[in-house]
Amino acid sequence: MSINFKDYIASVQDFPEPGIIFRDISPLMADGKAYAAATDAIADFARERKVDMIAGPEARGFIVGCPVAYKLGVGFAAARKKGKLPRATVSASYQLEYDTATLYLHKDAIQPGQRVLVCDDLLATGGTIAATIDLVERLGGIVVGTAFIVELTDLHGRDKIKNYDMLALTQYE
Ligand code: PRP
Ligand code: HPA
Repeated sequence: MSINFKDYIASVQDFPEPGIIFRDISPLMADGKAYAAATDAIADFARERKVDMIAGPEARGFIVGCPVAYKLGVGFAAARKKGKLPRATVSASYQLEYDTATLYLHKDAIQPGQRVLVCDDLLATGGTIAATIDLVERLGGIVVGTAFIVELTDLHGRDKIKNYDMLALTQYE
């Protein structure tokens, strides 16, 4: 029986502010079969691209990427927010609505030439995933694709990463 992933995404009106519909993957995570099916779909996409490594941004990129890494028997590189990584890092900044944010990777998180799939729960403007891709590439990684549970199509994040293969398990306007 195939799973309709949209049945496991909660749409929350007016969160975090009026006028926004927040797409929440918590119900998918709470359902073992749905979470496994999402993991399997992304793992198949990764396997076809012969990945050596999965990478994902804090925090929800870990929820999506870590089970895929486990399933494939490869490592996971955690792109973290400010002040979290204890050793030498590279950093990349990206634009938020009224501010900038920065993500960091340990310099030895990716080995040059490794084939990397970059995962997150959701693609909105694409700033977070573009910064994560930038970090991986600056360490010599080869980004062979990106994968998301949700794509918010009206925000055109896809345009920022158009040079990469992309998998989105669901799409919302
Ligand atoms: C959310 C989401 C993505 C990002 C998408 O993370 O999990 O990582 O925003 O937005 P973008 O495509 O416009 O960059 P958030 O920054 O809220 O962090 P969190 O996962 O720690 O909650
Ligand atoms: N859901 C979850 N995270 C998000 C969203 C959303 O709709 N928009 C930007 N980040």
